[in-house]
Amino acid sequence: MQATQFEFSTTSTDSALNIVLLDKKSFKKHSNKDTLAQLGFEGNFKQTLLIPSENTLLVGCEFKEKVMTSDPYYQLNSYELGATAYHALASTKVSEVLLSSVPASFHNADFVSDFVLGFLQGSLKITTFTKPPKKDTKRTLSLSPEVADTLSGGYIHIINALNSGINLNRQLVDATPFELNPDTVVDILEQVFVDQDNLEKNYYSYNQLLEIGAEGITAVGRASEHKPVLVHYILKPSKKVKRKIALVGKGLTYDSGGLDIKISGHMKTMKCDMGGAGLMVGVFKTLSHLDLEHTEVHWITAFAENMVGGDAYKPDDILTTLSGQTVEVVNTDAEGRLTLSDALTFATMENPDYIIDAATLTGACIFALTDHYTALMGNDDEFARSLLSSFETNQERAQYVAMPEILRETLKGDLSDLKNLPDAKGAGHVTAGLYLSHFINQNNFRNEALDLDEKKEYRWVHLDIAGTSYNKKHNELGYNGATGHGVRSLTHWILTNDNS
Ligand code: BES
Ligand code: ZN
Ligand code: ZN
Repeated sequence: MQATQFEFSTTSTDSALNIVLLDKKSFKKHSNKDTLAQLGFEGNFKQTLLIPSENTLLVGCEFKEKVMTSDPYYQLNSYELGATAYHALASTKVSEVLLSSVPASFHNADFVSDFVLGFLQGSLKITTFTKPPKKDTKRTLSLSPEVADTLSGGYIHIINALNSGINLNRQLVDATPFELNPDTVVDILEQVFVDQDNLEKNYYSYNQLLEIGAEGITAVGRASEHKPVLVHYILKPSKKVKRKIALVGKGLTYDSGGLDIKISGHMKTMKCDMGGAGLMVGVFKTLSHLDLEHTEVHWITAFAENMVGGDAYKPDDILTTLSGQTVEVVNTDAEGRLTLSDALTFATMENPDYIIDAATLTGACIFALTDHYTALMGNDDEFARSLLSSFETNQERAQYVAMPEILRETLKGDLSDLKNLPDAKGAGHVTAGLYLSHFINQNNFRNEALDLDEKKEYRWVHLDIAGTSYNKKHNELGYNGATGHGVRSLTHWILTNDNS
């Protein structure tokens, strides 16, 4: 997977194009304000004006007058602003850019680092199947001394780490199903995570998954030429382990729907069905470049391809999951929850303090919340709200969705413990969340072979990223494809809780 991108640099030359950020106040003080106003630029959020004679790009950052709203995301988003600045230059040949001035009220590390990251991410372009750019066209973004003063060395390190994690997320999610499938994924990961000695890497082959009885994974992936594989990576902290966190991602490298095949318009884009895996490996990659002191991070994903074939799993099959709970297949297109059943059980066997899963799980999530929002659910209100607040801080749109116990009934099977689709109509994202919760609480388990000393419940949050992982241009980056949504928020939560 090839890509081009602006790089973050600590040096610049005099020929760099200056980016000047203006709010209302600094606009009013501008010596040419009348001319600028005539040209329609007044410093409003996301207004841009390129002035070639001055080698300058003006970018407005005055957010609209506050309206009465309860929307926590209705405010200036500097990550989005960074991407906007890039787009104003996208069609030019400018290769060196300097963020030269930022209004006084935005002189802080969070604003500047999000702007820089948004600019870099706005410029990321996958080029595997397009004409490669001319060889040595290195493009850089740097900071003037005045702006650089807002950032300590630690921030620069975090920007670069996040950039590499988000790049990985987006490159994997945008990769075609030919490039990225359960057969190719291990080699790809081995190339990405090379020579990092703080990592432990484990893979479970199809035969091993059959042996341990992970039928949720093996049944879903069986009809594909590329048989499933479960990936379990562990990132060790530099000091004593005080907490373990398991990141579980849905990893359908393609979702054709299986025998309940999707109609064509709905199948297109289903290469994105490993967006949960992409999010978690993006967080994992980011953290692998940072110094976690006390948190051990586990990344677990079952990669599989949901296809049709003579050997395909069928509606009416009853699967025995790794947990021992049986699940009747009502619809083969509700496959993500089946692979997650086993991946989540796998996670609980590590005895983590927190489990977070992310999945492009349901179309219902998009119906309910549009593709602007991640649905955030869980079994622990305090944990869920604390993660939600990290999404709010990072301006990545998520909504807290309750999982009413009254709906649990609808998932009970007639011939099995559970069904993969409920009787109830509506709120499919919520019933999917409830379904997953059965694999978090080990008291539900019946698989004696797992030999759990003490059966436990775990603090768990589920993120349905069906709408946010991959979408049309109306995302922060103005990009048609993988968004990288969630990497910043989850990384932020893990870093903030590392020392406590
Ligand atoms: N991968 C899809 C969900 C999805 C839909 C993700 C749109 C991203 C965009 C999932 O496996 C699926 O097919 N869900 C079905 C379930 C249905 C059969 C009840 C859905 O939501 O339509
Ligand atoms: Zn599906
Ligand atoms: Zn799916």
